[in-house]
This record gives sequence, C-alpha cells and structure tokens, in this order.
Amino acid sequence: MSEKIAVIGTGYVGLVSGTCFADVGHQVVCVDRDAAKIERLKQAIMPIYEPGLDELVDKNMKAGRLTFTTSIGDAVRQSDIVIIAVGTPAMENGDVDMSQVKAAVIEVAENLNGYKIIINKSTVPVGTAKLSEELIREHRKEEHPFDIVSTPEFLREGTAVYDTFHLDRIVIGADNPEAAERVKQMHEPFQAPVLITNRESSELIKYASNSFLAAKISFINEMSNVCEKVGADVTMVAQGMGMDKRIGKSFLNAGIGYGGFCLPKDTKAQLKIAENVDYDFKIMRAVIDVNQQQRELFVEKIERVLGGSVAGKKIAALGLTFKPDTDDMRDAPSIDVIHALQEKGADVRAFDPVAAGHVDKLFPGMPTYTDPYQAIEGADAAVIITEWAQVKELDLNRVKALLTQPVIIDGRNQFVPEQMRELGFVYVSVGRP
Ligand code: UGA
Repeated sequence: MSEKIAVIGTGYVGLVSGTCFADVGHQVVCVDRDAAKIERLKQAIMPIYEPGLDELVDKNMKAGRLTFTTSIGDAVRQSDIVIIAVGTPAMENGDVDMSQVKAAVIEVAENLNGYKIIINKSTVPVGTAKLSEELIREHRKEEHPFDIVSTPEFLREGTAVYDTFHLDRIVIGADNPEAAERVKQMHEPFQAPVLITNRESSELIKYASNSFLAAKISFINEMSNVCEKVGADVTMVAQGMGMDKRIGKSFLNAGIGYGGFCLPKDTKAQLKIAENVDYDFKIMRAVIDVNQQQRELFVEKIERVLGGSVAGKKIAALGLTFKPDTDDMRDAPSIDVIHALQEKGADVRAFDPVAAGHVDKLFPGMPTYTDPYQAIEGADAAVIITEWAQVKELDLNRVKALLTQPVIIDGRNQFVPEQMRELGFVYVSVGRP
C-alpha cells in the first residue's frame, strides 16, 4: 500500500530515507526550513556528497513521487505518516540537544488535521516518544488521534542509498500494535527482517548499536597497540577473531579511530544517558578515551618516524573526511591529527577529493589538492588519514619519486608492509610489525 509521507529534515537520514521511500512507491514530501537548500533540491542538486543519491532524487521527482517544500504545515496536512529526521547534536555537557526535535513535534501538533502516525527517525534519548506524545497533546489545535512510533535509522554515510535497500533490520518501537503493523507494511518493499518492540527499547537499540560498533573499533585499536609491543600483526589478529561468527569480521579495522557525526556523538550520549540514571557505564568511557588516545598515538608515531620532531617538516596528509565517499568532516580524526602536527611546527599540505570546501574554516591557509600527487610532491613524509580510492590506488613508484624521502605513515593499514619495504619505503602502519 502506498502511503502519503512527510519527512521533516533533509539531512543524511531524512533525504536518503525520504527518497528511498519514494523509490519503493510511496508519495513523499521532504521538508526543510532552509529555503536555499530546498530550491537546490528541486533542481536535484544535493546538499551532501552521497553516491547514487542525486540520480535517485531526480528519478523520483520526475516520477512525481518526491517533492520538496519549506512548509512543515503543508507537508503534515497532506500526509498520513510524518517522519521526523532532524539533527540531534550533542551539547557542551554531553546531553543531546533536542531543540530541533521538539520544534518539529510542536509544528506537527499545530497542523494535525486527522489521524497520523508520527515516526521518529532522529537518534534520540530514551523517553523521547513519551515526551513527543505530551508535546502533541499540549500543542494540537484539533483533537485528532495519533501514534508516536520509533524507527531508528542504521544507514552509513557514503553507502546510505545502498544501506537503505539492504537493511539488516527494521526496528519498530510502538505502543499501539496497529500503528506498528502499518509502519511494518510501509517498510515491506525493503524486504528486511523486522523487530517490533516497545518505544523505549527501540530508542535504546540505536545507541546500543552505535556504541557497540565504536567499542569494536576501540577494542581492536587497543589490541593494535599491544600488537606493536609484542610483534604481532593486528590485521591477522582481527582476521582470526572475525572468522568466529559470534564475533564477526566487520568493524575490526584498526587505525586512527572513529570519527563522523554519529559514533562520537552517540557514544558520549550513551554515557550521559546512563549517568542521568545514576549508572556508570565504564566500558563506554573507555571506548571514548581510547578513541581519542588513538589519534594522539598516531601523531607521536609520525614524530618518532621523522626522527623525534616534525618541526619544519613538510607533511602530506592524505584524506581529510572522517571516512571515504563522504564530504563530512564532523569529528574527523584528520582535524586533531593535523592540528597537533601544525602545533608542533609541521608544514602540512593535504589531499582530499571532496573536502576542499571545509578547509578554510578548519585549517586556514593549508594548501589542499584534489590530486594526491600534488600534495605529496616535495613532502618529507606522506601520512594516510582517510582510505580514499585515490590513496589505495597510488602509483607508489611515483610517490617515492615525489617525496624528498620515502616515508609513509599509514593510519589506515592500506598497504602490505613487506611490499612497501621491497619498494624501498620506510613504512609504518598501525599494529603491524
Ligand atoms: C554509523 C553507523 O555505522 C550506522 O549504522 C549508523 O546509522 C550511523 O552511524 C548513524 O548513526 O547515523 P557512519 O557514521 O556513517 O555510520 O560511519 P561508519 O561507517 O560507522 O564509520 C565510523 C567511523 O569508524 C569512521 O571514521 C571509520 O573510519 C571508523 N571505522 C570503521 C574504523 O576505524 N574501523 C572500522 O573497522 C570501521
């Protein structure tokens, strides 16, 4: 059955899921307050770099299933299902900033003109469904019934469209079984396993999942530090662990830690959520500390390889975004690493295929190239921060010729140490002998 859906917020979650709901046949209107963004979206110009998204938006707009507006009111009144997908950034004290969610819920309430299911897809603390319910009761102008449902989003940036069509699970948190069933029907075309639960569990599943992924990364990163001391190879350790189906092989890539908008924010929020109910979530604190430490250890490693100091050294930083195939720089490890190198007197230049727009603000004056060889030319060392395809596919002989000395410090374990040594590089990676 085709549903009339309004999606509030055209960030990663809202734009991608709205477009994908349109693609499977629903009638979707996406809303954002930002008029310029909506104008560009109407011309299929994307606000984010996300492979495959522009074509899908264009296709569904042309098919008449996907429209854009700046009016929450219009969108809500013409829809039966409203998805809230606005940002929930972290505040200074670690609490989740709920102002955008609350504002959206209030606007939905003010425009309630019939029964609606209000789905929350933003990552929100436990209790948000209940809070939304109270806000709607307080602010609705007409006495229409409604249901608040929680369906957290699990897509990853850079593979968001693929992920939406290949979901591991759809989690539906609802108090009313009829609303849960309708939301399940709406997701039917995605053919993913469905878990129906209460709203509190659903809200927590999102934090638990991201926290656990972060814990896997911090675990393997600590393991890499042990590996370096005992002469083991962390990639082999991870492979051996991952062959155990109970452990699984994904998210065991050691490196310079996790970044982005989600894992750093959600681990901190998880810690805070526990703290707010007087529970000390010890593992979570360690996960966060280890992640920060991993960035610092990488800088120390660069210093060590360059003879104890980076002062006056020309360093090519390869990759700026928090991971490849996204233009997102939020909490990217590159920020801490490059700032530390600059503070220690290094002369940093960078390669990134898409992050150029962020450079002036984050790294004023740092020369940044979309061609990795330009960044590498004349540098005393290349430092791998993000495993972009252009980095993986580097012509290493050319790299060697362009560097003043053949030194690569690899924060993402992209090359085989033996081969690098054979090519004549001083090659130091993470957790490998
Ligand atoms: C993450 C989750 O993976 C998604 O399931 C979730 O929906 C999303 O957050 C969200 O809450 O919206 P994302 O932030 O796009 O997705 O990025 P990931 O692919 O999870 O990568 C996060 C960071 O971990 C990156 O910096 C990556 O380089 C790092 N990472 C990942 C590692 O260092 N090692 C690994 O083995 C895997």
